Amino acid sequence: MTEYNFPDVFIFGAATSSYQIEGAWDKDGKGESIWDRFSHQEGNVLNGDTGDQACDHYNRFKEDIALMKELNLDSYRFSISWPRIFPEGHGKVNQAGLDFYKELVDELLKAGIEPAITLYHWDLPQAIQEEGGWENRKTTDYFVEYAELLFYELGDKVKSWITHNEPWVASFLGNYFGEHAPGKNDLSAAIQVAHNIMLSHGKVVKKYREMDLDGEIGITLDLHEINPVSQSKSDIEAAELEEEFSNRWFLDPIFKAKYPDKLMNKFKDNFNLEFIDEGDMEIINQEIDFLGINYYTRHVIEADKSNNIFDYKHVKMIGNPHTEMGWEVYPDGLYNLLINLKEEYTDKPIYITENGRASDDKVDEYGRVNDKDRIDYYASHLKAVERAIKSGVPVAGYYAWSLMDNFEWAWGYTRRFGLIYVDFETKKRILKDSAKWYRQLIK
Ligand code: GAL
Repeated sequence: MTEYNFPDVFIFGAATSSYQIEGAWDKDGKGESIWDRFSHQEGNVLNGDTGDQACDHYNRFKEDIALMKELNLDSYRFSISWPRIFPEGHGKVNQAGLDFYKELVDELLKAGIEPAITLYHWDLPQAIQEEGGWENRKTTDYFVEYAELLFYELGDKVKSWITHNEPWVASFLGNYFGEHAPGKNDLSAAIQVAHNIMLSHGKVVKKYREMDLDGEIGITLDLHEINPVSQSKSDIEAAELEEEFSNRWFLDPIFKAKYPDKLMNKFKDNFNLEFIDEGDMEIINQEIDFLGINYYTRHVIEADKSNNIFDYKHVKMIGNPHTEMGWEVYPDGLYNLLINLKEEYTDKPIYITENGRASDDKVDEYGRVNDKDRIDYYASHLKAVERAIKSGVPVAGYYAWSLMDNFEWAWGYTRRFGLIYVDFETKKRILKDSAKWYRQLIK
């Protein structure tokens, strides 16, 4: 095994999200989420897969925590299903849903594993969607109501809170590209959704401070290293625009209380942005305790004038390996990203809240899953993290995505990301070779 030199307090964990693993989609009073609605509509998810059962984690969480313990995890990052707590989005609380997460937290603590909770990992209550979803500014207040309840109920035991997971995906992939729930193709709506999600983040951080709890709060962004395909002026400019779209659109409001200029000017020319109220940027610009980043790959960009606003395209690089998602394996991108974050945005601790790859995993005749490509992926990215720490970036922890194979959104069950193999018929779990490798590394 490769040798690593991480700080003593460095946290090693694994991550999941509610809709991707829990199942029990309508059990014990849970309300419908936009992902329930979306996956139940034909044509949205590959093979018609849904999260109705997923990994059945709702019923098997004790078994899963025992596996986490076996892996020596310091921390487990999971998300809460908002409609399990508020079936109608706000107002009446579903006690059974709340009890599920209380038990989960207690069980984790008993196993010596620190819970890290994501409040929003995309499963908005459908009832709120009916009121306009994230396009409706009121949703930001519903989000505060939901967060406040959880802070009140779990804030003494849970020390690590993440407001949102990947606002880019929730807003643009779901409302402009239509690949995720709620499945819209409306750029103007997507910009508004992004703004309200960020606003709700700021409001919830404020609420957390008011409640004076002993813990930390931050947000998780999906960030990419962005490279122009050539050094031509047009490719460089195109890459700068993509940088604003996929990274800075969220980093700048959080750390600089503004949107990036180039893209903002383009949006302004095309859309009515009056929903951005005076004072919003100050609310978004709350001091956070840490930044979470999800890193999977880089984007290589080439100018393409045929598109009006986003006048560029993504180029697939040959040479480096690509994962089952078609994503280039590019660990240097993680290093560069971390250095840039420190130089340009923040001195706060950074957690890698997701990193991992999809592979075509198979159980062999001995019941073993040999996923060497995943071990290589983790090993090289952890080397990049180690290098960044050496260069002075305060990376405080790393969460593998994912603890177990699960419902990979529009790809259904066709893409496996887990350390743990899940047989989706029987729900049986098997530790892959990467899980054993990770266990040894943590030890
Ligand atoms: C992230 C997301 C996860 C997981 C992962 C792999 O964007 O937060 O839920 O799906 O990608 O694609």
